[in-house]
Amino acid sequence: MNDDTERALDEAARLLVESRHVLALVGAGLSAESGVPTFRGPGGLWTKLGEPSMNGYQEFLGDPARWWREQQDQQADPDRTEFREAIERAEPNPGHYALADLERMGILKMTITQNVDDLHARAGQELLAEIHGNRTRLRCITCESRWPRDHFHGQDYPIHCPECRGLVKSDTVMFGEPIPRGVLDLCFSQTEMCDCMIVCGTSATVYPAASFPQTVRERGGAFIEANPNPTPLSPLANVVLRGQNGQMLPALVERVKALRR
Ligand code: OAD
Repeated sequence: MNDDTERALDEAARLLVESRHVLALVGAGLSAESGVPTFRGPGGLWTKLGEPSMNGYQEFLGDPARWWREQQDQQADPDRTEFREAIERAEPNPGHYALADLERMGILKMTITQNVDDLHARAGQELLAEIHGNRTRLRCITCESRWPRDHFHGQDYPIHCPECRGLVKSDTVMFGEPIPRGVLDLCFSQTEMCDCMIVCGTSATVYPAASFPQTVRERGGAFIEANPNPTPLSPLANVVLRGQNGQMLPALVERVKALRR
């Protein structure tokens, strides 16, 4: 590690230790070292395949039974099957474990993640706002009840919520689908309280997630960007950790521990 990186890590650790309400905002880059491709940039899923239909949610609403049938026929699209298999195989990496360490230490109060891969929970994190959902769960689009993915196995399609009769779909937020109210409110209220945000592995191009670090800055707080590549947020960041999350985040945890000894 060069001197600039060492200095940036020291400065980031100091910010974390001195702040009252630290949040993490996470994107696909955190899981890249677990073998899950990112969406954008070199090797990204959409760089390779093009962006998926922007009205996926409207299509679901138009024929929910068909959507459920297609879930069963996952071999229909070999390119996306490759992506699904990569997620199924993925294990948490040192970046996920570093965030879990910060949570256990009482530094990290909540992680707002755009990732749906469940790797945060598998690394031991509990304080999560999964703004784009979690692929291992189903959700009622009306009352926002949630269940494990195979909960309704064997039932006729489309699946209706046993509580309110609303339609049930994957918890993963589709294009064109509103972000579920409960998690969105949680993200906004947490961001209001936040005085330091660590922004890990996101291109910061999808809203509202990309607005949270800007809100923190506008309210007088700070944010740290941890990303090997520049993003539209980089010029606003108080500290930039230019490197892979799997290397930078554990190094940051070591410095935080040293400051607290
Ligand atoms: P992107 O694919 O847009 O961006 C991934 C980011 O990860 C880029 O900025 C890379 O530089 C960075 N990156 C790559 N390798 C990394 C590593 N080892 N460590 C750290 N960072 C690394 O992914 P997101 O920003 O998450 O939404 O995209 C946001 C949303 O776009 C996704 O949640 C998805 C999509 O619409 C839904 O599917 C609902």
